Amino acid sequence: MDKFLIKGGNPLRGRVSISGAKNSALPCLAATLLSPATVTLHNVPYVRDLITQRRLLEDLGAQTLTPDVHTHKITAAHIENFEAPYELVKTMRASVLALGPLLGRFGKAKVSLPGGCAIGTRPIDLHLRAFEELGAEVSLESGDVVARAPRGRLVGAEMEFEKVTVTGTENVMMAAVLAEGTTVIRNAACEPEIPDLADLLNKMGAKVQGAGTPTITIEGVEGLGEAEHTIIADRIETGTFAVAAAITGGELEIANCRPDHIGAVIEKLREAGVEIEELDETTLKVRRSDGGLKASNVTTEPYPLFPTDMQAQYMTLMTQAEGTSEIIETIFENRFMHASELIRMGADIEIHGNHATVKGPVKLKGAPVLASDLRASASLVLAGLAAEGETMIDRVYHIDRGYETIVRKIGALGGDIQRIKEQITSVADSGEAVGST
Ligand code: EPZ
Repeated sequence: MDKFLIKGGNPLRGRVSISGAKNSALPCLAATLLSPATVTLHNVPYVRDLITQRRLLEDLGAQTLTPDVHTHKITAAHIENFEAPYELVKTMRASVLALGPLLGRFGKAKVSLPGGCAIGTRPIDLHLRAFEELGAEVSLESGDVVARAPRGRLVGAEMEFEKVTVTGTENVMMAAVLAEGTTVIRNAACEPEIPDLADLLNKMGAKVQGAGTPTITIEGVEGLGEAEHTIIADRIETGTFAVAAAITGGELEIANCRPDHIGAVIEKLREAGVEIEELDETTLKVRRSDGGLKASNVTTEPYPLFPTDMQAQYMTLMTQAEGTSEIIETIFENRFMHASELIRMGADIEIHGNHATVKGPVKLKGAPVLASDLRASASLVLAGLAAEGETMIDRVYHIDRGYETIVRKIGALGGDIQRIKEQITSVADSGEAVGST
């Protein structure tokens, strides 16, 4: 497995361009299954999870063309297979997003029930209950979710999620666009990736209204056609680089981003002593204020409040802030694994259930650390950039899943980071980290 070797202490300076949002590209790629015509997606991030999602579409029978690494042309004219196998789903939970479109267009789908992951059990019970509201019969057979529309076509219905689920909202939206009649989804997720998916579906000929609000109304149509769509910028990559500027004492111009998608993050970072200037609708200028970083409490919540995907990065920042900060994680039950690795670097953090208490500032010292999940990996990269000495991060395949060419981007800003390639013992082991530098 590849590692990152980081020598800390260099302030990051310069301009960084934000890639397309992984968590929007994943449902948008799945949505191409809903149409027999060609759907072209631009600004798709070149990261491992999207390579996996494209392979899933090919396994199902779709034709995929990538004129360049950020453009995907998908034509799901001849879908012969309606199953997403365990081998694939176990590597990427977002494969469950194939359920909605396959069920919606073909009336049948079989997807391996995803296991948990490092940050929690990650059930999909709410997805399955929503499909049943649309008239689907859903059963579990030897670890697979088997869903079918008994009359061949789903029937629109009114439903309410008992808790906010991002991919649950996306899955049922995709199932409902071809259903007979109208569907109303209440307590829907409002994350920016939801309106982005709705934009694509409507370009394909669907009739989705209210995406981005807690109530989404979908009028079923007979069929969908071709479309062209550009994926929104990645709000979490944006927040990650904003923290990178602040924690290294540098100054970054963050381009091709969407400041309007990270209002809660900008507000919290400003409270913590980070100077953030919105130069225009797609550019931020970020630096640590002269007064230094100050401890500020945060609780993760569904959008538009502070996102759980920025919690790990924020914790690293708080190790450098004056005072004590309380970080409360309300979305996932086990999303503090980066804390133990930060403690190995000298951080003063105490964990009690879903509460973390961080005391700062402390001088972080480079050390060998282990990445456990995508955002935890990012928090360790940030710590390594701020630490004294060398940090070796192992299992960086986690970060390759969701951050496009992060080594190249950080290196171009003056960060001392290099990828240490694992000695390949055989071709089979050459799990090359795609999109890597
Ligand atoms: C999406 O995951 C994102 N992934 C996650 O980003 C993100 O952390 C999460 O939303 C929350 O914002 C993608 O979009 C591909 P949820 P998702 O369903 O949809 C519980 C990253 O780092 N729940 O909103 O799986 C669940 O256990 C990843 O990019 C059920 O109980 O999250 C969690 O506690 C990590 N039953 C809460 O709801 C269900 O059927 C929110 O989960 C579904 C969810």
